[in-house]
Amino acid sequence: MAKITFKFEDTSIPTVVVENAEEGYSILEVTEDFDIHLNHNCGGVCACSTCHIYVNKGEDSLEEISDKEEDFIDRAINPRLESRLACQCIILDEDAVIEVEIPDQKRIIGHEH
Ligand code: FES
Repeated sequence: MAKITFKFEDTSIPTVVVENAEEGYSILEVTEDFDIHLNHNCGGVCACSTCHIYVNKGEDSLEEISDKEEDFIDRAINPRLESRLACQCIILDEDAVIEVEIPDQKRIIGHEH
């Protein structure tokens, strides 16, 4: 099982560690399963940028970034080198150790599904 540590730009939210994330699922799906608030306006089909996250560790254990994903990341708030879209981050390695930072969701115009 993969381990994902979720940290939050909004430091009032405590870090969440998920020890049993499954290979084949996206990071967005993991956030939904564990009630971690992350907007996803397009429903996870790489057609918005509201599921923007920073992958600080474990990038190699995730599906590679596509050109389309890069285009949408350019429209996200404060993109960085480690930016990804959570719906496109499929976990490929069952022993992955991943660390993610979730941007402050209050600054994103979105809604929860
Ligand atoms: S939810 Fe829209 S791009 Fe990920």
